[in-house]
Amino acid sequence: MELEEKIKTRTAVAAVVGLGYVGLPLAIEMVKSGYRVIGIDVSQAKIGKLMAGESYVKDVPHEDVAQCVESGRFTLSTSYAPLHEADSISICVPTPLRKTKDPDISYVTAAVDEVVNVLTKNTLIVLESTTYPGTSEELIEHEIRTRLGYRIGEDFFVCFSPERVDPGNPSYHTKNTPKVIGGITPRCTEIGSMLYRNIVDTVIPVSSTRVAEMVKLLENTFRSVNIALVNELSLMCERMGINVWEVIDAAATKPFGYMPFYPGPGIGGHCIPLDPVYLSWKAKTYDFYTRFIELASDVNGNMPRFVVQEISDLLNSRKKSVNGANIMMLGVAYKRDIDDVRESPALEIYHLLRDKGAEVTYYDPYVPRFADKYGNDLHSVDLSAGALAQADLVMIATDHRCIDYRWVAAHAPLLFDARNATKGICGDHIYLLGGQRAAGDRMQGRAEVAYV
Ligand SMILES: NC(=O)c1ccc[n+]([C@@H]2O[C@H](COP(=O)([O-])OP(=O)(O)OC[C@H]3O[C@@H](n4cnc5c(N)ncnc54)[C@H](O)[C@@H]3O)[C@@H](O)[C@H]2O)c1
Repeated sequence: MELEEKIKTRTAVAAVVGLGYVGLPLAIEMVKSGYRVIGIDVSQAKIGKLMAGESYVKDVPHEDVAQCVESGRFTLSTSYAPLHEADSISICVPTPLRKTKDPDISYVTAAVDEVVNVLTKNTLIVLESTTYPGTSEELIEHEIRTRLGYRIGEDFFVCFSPERVDPGNPSYHTKNTPKVIGGITPRCTEIGSMLYRNIVDTVIPVSSTRVAEMVKLLENTFRSVNIALVNELSLMCERMGINVWEVIDAAATKPFGYMPFYPGPGIGGHCIPLDPVYLSWKAKTYDFYTRFIELASDVNGNMPRFVVQEISDLLNSRKKSVNGANIMMLGVAYKRDIDDVRESPALEIYHLLRDKGAEVTYYDPYVPRFADKYGNDLHSVDLSAGALAQADLVMIATDHRCIDYRWVAAHAPLLFDARNATKGICGDHIYLLGGQRAAGDRMQGRAEVAYV
């Protein structure tokens, strides 16, 4: 049967390579759409968990994994051998940076190398990993054409479809987030769109893989630059004695032409701090220097140091020093309601404070443990009134919604809030990143935050 026919009748076998935050939800959605799915991951631990019906991605419920595996329509392997029967292969492996801040594309090349070894004709390959424009042509199409002699758009099909998953987002997930897809030839786009239309609600075809690759980089560069703008504004407002959060909330009432972004202790995760660097790196090969991207990286990257300076000044105002201070951090995940600490600014702040001699503990309901750079295994402490009261300073690094900040504010002797989690809570012991509370908000001290 033709590939097109197999996709239409949902008899095609779909494979997903790399079952992490992106690949696992996609694989589950493919099974739910009626396809048989082969999941491949190099991690034996992850494959073992999935085979036992367990999920390790917070947004994917255990029941979904268990049902898909029990149905016999989701098979798992650490070997690429089963891919010889795949009709489509979606690649969702990591694309981090090297220590030198250059793109580390080695996971993609390793996956492509393995795929080429087992690839049969009439297969669709979709790269989902975020990467620089040109990757699909240079690392996938070129490799298959030169090693196997297959003709693009006839013997095999290559598309790029950026993953837009937003972990922890209660409204948007893989199925209802519109999916952009671009193929190397129009026929590639047609075949790729056909498959994804059966899996997600909305598919937006674009004219090439390069356009699709650039779409993702535009989206994330847009976020990085706008976050940098409000971060810089927050430093300015702090100096001017203006509450930047109030400014942003008021500006956000404009019904057109403005979209709110919020300051914070820095940017984290596998996307915003990394993806723009992929673009600026590639741009340099065209002798083009992306000043906005470099500036945004610089501003955002310095936020953890700014936060540490703020904490130091606060302790100083209480005749205390960072050295020897007992500091409790609330939240270490890179953003609210998730369990991911990759590139989390909270970890950098933790290390900076530790290097200055502070005793740092943390509470994060989603991150029970993490390993610090000294090789220590750290465990989340219990969040108790006593623990808060004993701290010289409590810092809100990540504003998980399950924490009662009114209660925290009632027990912490000194509170530094890098996320405006204490919005509407008053007290002279509460300090915000980027400025003071509004006069009406400030009111008078501890009694205002008494927990009832
Ligand atoms: N996490 C997000 O929110 C997000 C959002 C949009 C796009 N992305 C992009 O999607 C890609 C994947 O990100 P992620 O967050 O899912 O990463 P992840 O680390 O959670 O998952 C990647 C998986 O790939 C596996 N893997 C590594 N090398 C492999 C190989 N050669 N063969 C098979 N499996 C291999 C790893 O074991 C891991 O399970 C990245 O390019 C990222 O930038 C991520």
